[in-house]
Amino acid sequence: MLELMAENTPRTKAEEPINPSAWLKERGLDPDRIPRHVAIIMDGNGRWANNRGEQRVVGHLHGVDAVRSAVQTALTCGVRYLTLYAFSTENWNRPKEEVDALMDLLVQTLVKEVDDLAEKKVRLRAIGDLSSLPEKAQAQLHAAMDRTAGMEGLDLVLALSYSSKWEIVEAVRSMIRDGIAVDEVTTACIDGYLSTAGLPDPELMIRTSGERRISNFLLWQLAYAEFHFSSVLWPDFREEHFVHAIQDYQNRERRFGGLMDTNHTGVKPDTTTTKAS
Ligand code: FPP
Repeated sequence: MLELMAENTPRTKAEEPINPSAWLKERGLDPDRIPRHVAIIMDGNGRWANNRGEQRVVGHLHGVDAVRSAVQTALTCGVRYLTLYAFSTENWNRPKEEVDALMDLLVQTLVKEVDDLAEKKVRLRAIGDLSSLPEKAQAQLHAAMDRTAGMEGLDLVLALSYSSKWEIVEAVRSMIRDGIAVDEVTTACIDGYLSTAGLPDPELMIRTSGERRISNFLLWQLAYAEFHFSSVLWPDFREEHFVHAIQDYQNRERRFGGLMDTNHTGVKPDTTTTKAS
């Protein structure tokens, strides 16, 4: 049934070539202050479906359209990294039927979208306890990551079977196993042991559906991020909502515990060896 519904889900129409600077200007966005890394908690699929008298899985299915739209908007805006919270460690506690449907949806979406992602120069990456995913999902995920490995337009990072506390526990265990000495423990060292090693921290975190929590998502990495909470349910989240979040971000003054980001660079200070306030 899921397969049939996925086939029937309308696709966004092919994008016309656009002039990025004109596009940004029309939307009042400063091209020099586009967040490099945006992280999104995609919330509200279940409520979206319930509001229509549908099963929760229908909300997830329509959530894929919103994922496609977010990827396109990130590409158009020049966001370099987009991390999506697609399945949390806690989501394993949902009814088996819903978990199975989400895993099926992941596999189908990867199969269906991988060529388009490669064409758009999107590199697919994943963070989380990937070994806990069903074998089929792991296989498709690795195939899609291999297929898009050389792409440099946008890194699309799927957080799957991910939670921040799980990730921090894993990092501490690895550091102990590697015999890291006490005075070698720095923020840079911890950064390097997290599943996001090599990725810059997100400057902007968006959560949809009106909830105002971070739900065990990138607790370490979001230390200096700006938060944007949208009341839109994830399946309805489109370009204008993403643009609105970036406008909101650009209107914030980022101080990183100091007095003022005088250069408006949006770049956090180096806290590798010092304590940030
Ligand atoms: C939260 O909404 C959403 C999820 C747990 C799953 C997110 C999955 C998708 C958007 C679709 C698949 C994604 C990919 C990358 C293939 P919820 O179910 O908690 O909503 P509720 O709070 O209204 O119940």
